[in-house]
Amino acid sequence: MSAPQTTVALPEMSQILPLVYGFTISQIAGTTARLGVADLVQESPKTAAELTAAVGADPNYFSQLLRAAVAVGMLTRDQEGRYTLTPVGRIFGTDSPWQAKVHDAWHTHPAVWQAFGALEDAVRQGRPAFEIVHNTSFFDYIDNDPVLAALFHSTMSTNTHANNATIVTGYDFSHFTHIVDIGGGNGALLSAILNAHKHLHATLFDTTSGVHDAPTVLAAAGVADRCEITTGDFLAAVPPGGDAYVLKNILCDWDDESCVTILRNCREVMAPGGRVVMLGSVVPEDGEPGSEPDLASAVQDVAIMATFPGVIRTLAQFQGLFEAAGLRLGEVTRLHESFNVHVLEAVPV
Ligand SMILES: C[S@@+](CC[C@H](N)C(=O)[O-])C[C@H]1O[C@@H](n2cnc3c(N)ncnc32)[C@H](O)[C@@H]1O
Repeated sequence: MSAPQTTVALPEMSQILPLVYGFTISQIAGTTARLGVADLVQESPKTAAELTAAVGADPNYFSQLLRAAVAVGMLTRDQEGRYTLTPVGRIFGTDSPWQAKVHDAWHTHPAVWQAFGALEDAVRQGRPAFEIVHNTSFFDYIDNDPVLAALFHSTMSTNTHANNATIVTGYDFSHFTHIVDIGGGNGALLSAILNAHKHLHATLFDTTSGVHDAPTVLAAAGVADRCEITTGDFLAAVPPGGDAYVLKNILCDWDDESCVTILRNCREVMAPGGRVVMLGSVVPEDGEPGSEPDLASAVQDVAIMATFPGVIRTLAQFQGLFEAAGLRLGEVTRLHESFNVHVLEAVPV
C-alpha cells in the first residue's frame, strides 16, 4: 500500500519572490538607476519613449525594465504613461542623502558580486566569500584596484553622511581636545565633528587609498587647518596623543584577534584621560528584547560575511574585546534606531 500523499499549500507569491528572486529585485532597481532613469524622472515625469530617447536603450527591453521598476515599487506610472519616482525610489536620485546608487555600484562591481555568489562556500568554510574567490583580503585587493577602492570608500561615506547629524548631536564630543579617527576614510565624520566644535583638533588615520579624497572633503567643510591626515596600518600602530580614538564601523570588519590589536594600539598611545569611542552596530544577546533577527541587521551581517572576516557583535562580545585590550566598557549610547548606531566608550583599566 502506498503512503498517503500530503499536499503542502504554497504561500502567496509575494512572500515567495523576495526569498527566491531577491537578487532580481535589487537588479531591477539598480539597473534602472544605473541607466540614469532616477535622475531623468526627478527633473519631470517622463514617458517610456522620452526615457528611451534619453537613455539610448533598446525600446522593448527598456520598457520591460520600466514596468518591472513599477512592480518593485521604485517608479509609478500615471494615466498618461509618464514615469516618476515613488518616495522610496527617491533614494536612487543624486540628491538623496543616502546614495543608493553608490551602494548599488559597489555591490554590483564584478569582484563583489562574485563574492556574494560564493556565500555557500563561505558558510561551509567559515571564511569570507571574498577571500575564497579572490584569494586575498578585501582591503589588500582594493590596494590594487583604485576603481573598487573608490566605490567602497564612497559607499562608506554616504553611510556616514546619512548618520553624521545624529552622531554629532547624540554624542558629546565637546569635552575632548584631540580626536583621532582610526580608519576614518575621507574625513566625512571628522568634518562634521570639527564643524560642530570649533576648539577641537583632529588626526585622520587610514590607508593611502582610504584618505584619497580627504583633502578635498576636509577643505570643503572648512576644517582642513584643524585636521592632520596620516596614513598607516592600524594593526601595526596608530597616531599618538589623542584623547578620543574614534573607531566607526571598524571592528565589525575584523576577527577578534585583530580587533584586540587595534584597540590595544589605541590604548597604548592615547593621552592621559583618553578613551576609545566605538561607533557601530551592536546586536542584542539571544533571548534579549529585540533579539529576533531583523532584516536590516541580517543584511549587514551577511554582507560582512561575504566580504570581511568580521561580525556584528553583542555588548558582551565588545566587553570581551575591550578587556583583552586592557580597556573597560564605559558609557553606552544608542543613537539611531533605523541604522542601529551605538556609541560605546572604553577607557584604560
Ligand atoms: C568600513 S570602513 C569605515 C570607514 C569610516 N570609519 C566610516 O565609518 O565611514 C573601514 C575603514 O578602515 C580602513 N582600513 C582598513 N584596513 C586598514 C588598516 N590596516 N589600517 C588603517 N585603515 C584601514 C579602510 O580604508 C576604511 O576606510
